[in-house]
Amino acid sequence: MSLTLPPESKSYIQKELKRYETKESALIPALFEAQKVFGLITPEVIDLLSKEMDIPTSRVNEVFEFYTMFNKSKVGKYHIQVCTNISCSMVGAREYMQALCEKLNVKPCEVTADGKFSVSTAECLGSCGTAPMAEVTSRDADEYHENLKINEIDKFLGKFK
Ligand code: FES
Repeated sequence: MSLTLPPESKSYIQKELKRYETKESALIPALFEAQKVFGLITPEVIDLLSKEMDIPTSRVNEVFEFYTMFNKSKVGKYHIQVCTNISCSMVGAREYMQALCEKLNVKPCEVTADGKFSVSTAECLGSCGTAPMAEVTSRDADEYHENLKINEIDKFLGKFK
């Protein structure tokens, strides 16, 4: 069965296409919209966007592959991306990542058995002054959580229902 976008997503993408001088400029919002609908970006989603936007699949794929915020595999309801770049790593981000994975009983890029969480690393998310930090994305929100502490992992996870 071929994928289809819901009408509201189609009209959002068409509106974005008219906003910019070049069609390619609408690729990031379109990829975000598709990710909201399908949960991840697969080759079928790339094809769908290519047809919807009249942009070659290779061009859609280039943009998709360049950015790390688009999911290449299934993620949990809450996808926790722990920044492990230099500033965060200097204050324990890698240890935090390891403790978080142990707590959730997953390896990086795996989804918990209940489908609620997935964890991955991210490059600098621009919040170095409040390191270590993580970005948590879900269908409804995209939040930064800062000054993370291993001894507060339960409290941190408890924020997500
Ligand atoms: S290094 Fe982690 S936010 Fe910059």
